[in-house]
Amino acid sequence: MMKFRLLQISLLLVFCYVYAVAGEKNQQVKKTYVIHMDRSNMPASFDDHFQWYDSSLKSVSDSAAMLYTYNNVIHGFSTRLTVEEVESLEKQPGILAVLPEARYELHTTRTPEFLGLGKSVALFPASDAVSEVIVGVLDTGVWPEIKSFDDSGLGPVPKAWKGTCEVGKNFSSSSCNKKLIGARFFSKGYEAAFGPIDETVESKSPRDDDGHGTHTSTTATGSVVSGASLFGYASGTARGMATQARVAAYKVCWLGGCFGSDIVAAMDKAVEDGVNVLSMSIGGGLTDYYRDTVAIGAFNAMAQGILVSCSAGNGGPYSGSLSNIAPWITTVGAGTLDRDFPAYVNLGNGKNFTGVSLYSGKPLSGSLVPLVYAANVSNTTTGNLCMTGSLIPAKVAGKIVICDRGGNARVQKGLVVKGAGGVGMILTNTDDYGEELVADAQLLPSAAMGQIAGDVIKQYLSSDPHPTATIASGGTHLGIQPSPVVAAFSSRGPNPITPEILKPDLIAPGVNILAAWTGAVGPTGMQSDTRQVDFNIISGTSMSCPHVSGLAALLKAAHPEWSPAAIKSALMTTAYSTYPNGGTILDVATGHASTPFDYGAGHVNPVAALDPGLVYDATIEDYLGFLCALNYSTSQIKLATNRDFTCVSSKVYSLGNFNYPSFAVPLETASSSKGGAGVTSTVKYTRTLTNVGTSATYKVSMSSETPSVKMLVEPESLSFSEQYEKKSYTVTFTASSEPSGTTSFARLQWSDGKHVVSSPVAFSWT
Ligand SMILES: *[C@@H]1O[C@H](CO)[C@@H](O)[C@H](O)[C@H]1NC(C)=O
Ligand SMILES: *[C@@H]1O[C@H](CO)[C@@H](O)[C@H](O)[C@H]1NC(C)=O
Ligand SMILES: *[C@@H]1O[C@H](CO)[C@@H](O)[C@H](O)[C@H]1NC(C)=O
Ligand SMILES: *[C@@H]1O[C@H](CO)[C@@H](O)[C@H](O)[C@H]1NC(C)=O
Ligand SMILES: *[C@@H]1O[C@H](CO)[C@@H](O)[C@H](O)[C@H]1NC(C)=O
Repeated sequence: MMKFRLLQISLLLVFCYVYAVAGEKNQQVKKTYVIHMDRSNMPASFDDHFQWYDSSLKSVSDSAAMLYTYNNVIHGFSTRLTVEEVESLEKQPGILAVLPEARYELHTTRTPEFLGLGKSVALFPASDAVSEVIVGVLDTGVWPEIKSFDDSGLGPVPKAWKGTCEVGKNFSSSSCNKKLIGARFFSKGYEAAFGPIDETVESKSPRDDDGHGTHTSTTATGSVVSGASLFGYASGTARGMATQARVAAYKVCWLGGCFGSDIVAAMDKAVEDGVNVLSMSIGGGLTDYYRDTVAIGAFNAMAQGILVSCSAGNGGPYSGSLSNIAPWITTVGAGTLDRDFPAYVNLGNGKNFTGVSLYSGKPLSGSLVPLVYAANVSNTTTGNLCMTGSLIPAKVAGKIVICDRGGNARVQKGLVVKGAGGVGMILTNTDDYGEELVADAQLLPSAAMGQIAGDVIKQYLSSDPHPTATIASGGTHLGIQPSPVVAAFSSRGPNPITPEILKPDLIAPGVNILAAWTGAVGPTGMQSDTRQVDFNIISGTSMSCPHVSGLAALLKAAHPEWSPAAIKSALMTTAYSTYPNGGTILDVATGHASTPFDYGAGHVNPVAALDPGLVYDATIEDYLGFLCALNYSTSQIKLATNRDFTCVSSKVYSLGNFNYPSFAVPLETASSSKGGAGVTSTVKYTRTLTNVGTSATYKVSMSSETPSVKMLVEPESLSFSEQYEKKSYTVTFTASSEPSGTTSFARLQWSDGKHVVSSPVAFSWT
């Protein structure tokens, strides 16, 4: 209910805004802007930056108050301004840019065993090293009382920690401990947009009223909790990836959404507080890096040695649907586990189909009841989707209803059926979701079915005058193969901003993940769901991101001197993209083999990542060179990086030479190249490897699925005699032209017989 009210408020705001713009230029309409200041060029007449920022703001507006000032990841402040005020502020000296705040959204246990964290204990960093690592999670806050934040056995808070435990509604300084070492909340941008927080519906404090933040932060760092389950499903021991690491919660997302001015404020504080890893399961629209406030914040976090791990987005299976793609961010897509929660649909014709469910209430009796398709028992054209108010109770009562996936929340459909008197729901996938099954803690007996089974059930329904069915739950099944498969919702490449950088970087578990939950709402997040659970099972790249954040914390503990780029490289070059039988990881959306545009370097393999042999490292200068290769102007570079840097005019900067652990190679088609059909083009990429193992000689090998591109690596062998020694190689791609839109893939591997340093190569003819 409260979510809908907030939605109405935001619609109302949009309406007011549109109305105001339409009705003559109404200069009273204010929006939030993030103002980036050129701090190194502060006029000498000011004593400090704050005074300068304040004076700049006062010169354009008497009334505007600063929401935040920013000192670490960007320099500047945020405030509410009219369009006219923005125009005059932009003309002030020392203003780098006045960027409108973007709106962001959340990208909504068996994982450790699946990832091999149960074994190979000897390889893992000692727990006292891990306990020095701090993971900052930007999300909806935390529910501090849960067992996953139990701090028994942990030593004192790391000395590097400078953060705090902010007090607020139902959150005291004693809500933090040696596990949850800090918690803050950032609501000024949200309140500027929506008005004061209604404390009867959400806590103006780090307390999590949603569940998402509790789930992500415990996935990354949760302590070991035995006997965890959701209504008996997925029962076992729940634990985060880095059980000894510390966690700090930065609440930036509220029931009405997440706002850029709050997110940057949280990143700014997290850097100052001393986090080592930032986990952000949130995303917004894509723009150039110098206009993307989160990318800018992440650059400066990276520059201070912090690995920033973000969700790739839930825009799949459509290509180019990624978010959080700056090369200094680790972009994480989602795959499945080898765990399933089967539910069986039995039809009146005796046929039996398997789907998934997390329903835990009173089961159906087992006898057959009438079956209807929502589209046939509704008076709207989108009745098949079981939207609120669309089902006709007289035609639904006492029956099982088939609803198609899409349009509204899956659990909402269940409530709509239940509300209309239905006794069960079969949730069927359409084209967009294929065979991807996402289990939900529905409030009525239900089974989510893949498209193939769903179509057969619908055929039965239309051919039988009196169709009937029943639904039964089957508990938890382990060892499901093949696994992982790429989740249909996981956002896909190619990279829409910089096609020369392959994204996502890798995939991690993100389907049906068990982790801790808030006490404020039930497992479905619906207000009518009054059930209270300690753990919940949810899905999304929001869930895969904190897996990688926690694993990055383990790598940081094992190798404190590694840069964020080195840690990312280790995670990527050791990821796997095939099953033990040699087959490529499947894509659930197509049922066929997936590609590096779906999984990046592959599925994370933490044990191998601890000892990668070689890494593709990158310094701040490398990233600056990358921006030069994008032809950024000096002021755009300043905006993106907070640094004065001028590209050397005599130097040739190349995107292809940026030292990334994967390769994306845009190639010319016949029509775009001058020579016409049959022409070949040659692209050369140079890379530098850093030895993080002992002395060894590595030899290159390549495999390609296309005869259209020849790959030549020089030299073919690299000998390292010392740790941290660097060696470069060049790979030449000679390609014949292919029709526009053609893609193909290859792999380039360096091996010393012990380590395999593997990079995917994605060719695309544009
Ligand atoms: C406040 O926190 C307690 C747990 O300490 C919880 O039981 C209670 O529901 C919370 N109240 C609100 C309004 O969130
Ligand atoms: C349907 O199939 C599943 C497994 O394939 C089985 O466990 C279940 O008992 C079957 N149900 C019926 C009614 O045949
Ligand atoms: C059907 O349509 C009528 C108006 O045509 C509307 O009042 C009603 O709410 C709709 N839904 C149902 C379930 O009858
Ligand atoms: C219900 O819908 C299906 C699919 O649209 C159709 O084939 C079938 O004939 C309909 N049944 C009734 C009773 O309208
Ligand atoms: C940058 O400019 C050079 C020279 O004009 C051009 O060849 C190159 O394609 C540009 N790069 C990008 C990424 O736009």
